[in-house]
Amino acid sequence: EREIACEKDLKGKKILVTAGPTQEAIDPVRYITNHSSGKMGYAIAKTAMLRGADVTLVSGCTAIEPPMFVNLVPVVTAKDMYEAVTSISNEQDIIIKAAAVADYRPANVSDEKVKKREGQMSIELERTDDILKYLGEHKPTGQFLCGFSMETQNVIENSRAKLVKKNLDMVAANNVKVEGAGFQGDTNVLTLITREEEISLPLMTKEGAAGRLLDKILVMTAGSK
Ligand code: CTP
Ligand code: CA
Repeated sequence: EREIACEKDLKGKKILVTAGPTQEAIDPVRYITNHSSGKMGYAIAKTAMLRGADVTLVSGCTAIEPPMFVNLVPVVTAKDMYEAVTSISNEQDIIIKAAAVADYRPANVSDEKVKKREGQMSIELERTDDILKYLGEHKPTGQFLCGFSMETQNVIENSRAKLVKKNLDMVAANNVKVEGAGFQGDTNVLTLITREEEISLPLMTKEGAAGRLLDKILVMTAGSK
């Protein structure tokens, strides 16, 4: 089969991929999340595995089948993902953070189901830790760190700001409002942003986009092991 016969150009590389949404509980029956399907991260994990990498996939809850032959680490919350990722980040050659991590979680989680009452209600939220920012601040020499960036406006400027602020080597930016891009579908329209370049990929399948992203990382890391 063609997939299996692909070149093993990532052989010997340890790659950590995060994927999917996180869920932040409000009470035992409700949570805050986002529209991430996990498809982009899973496509990266699968493509990297087929190209010979040693892949760990830290995944939030998704409805899709995980790829075979990857080390799957299922997580639920942003805190779980932070712990899973930071406990193995030092030994990775490449980290690709495609997960849509909640920026806020309920400050207090009710032990019992919250009952409805008359009038409005509000939920107090507190910030989660920024996993990618932590990774950028603690990046071992030679490690390649790639973030994702989801925006609805000023995509390139806002995404480049994340590249700098989080000390990344690359950001894969996408505009959720562009036709064929974003969370749920099988296609994406990515712009790969590095310190020097902006590479606008056309509308592609998520597997195709994953391949181009890995190609670029391979070129940028050539020579460093
Ligand atoms: N990210 C993370 N931990 C968080 C929030 C985000 O690791 N608590 C990572 C995501 O996995 C993604 C990148 O940061 O790779 C950018 O996420 P995004 O939501 O686009 O940007 P933020 O930095 O969270 O800023 P904002 O949501 O305000 O645009
Ligand atoms: Ca965010």
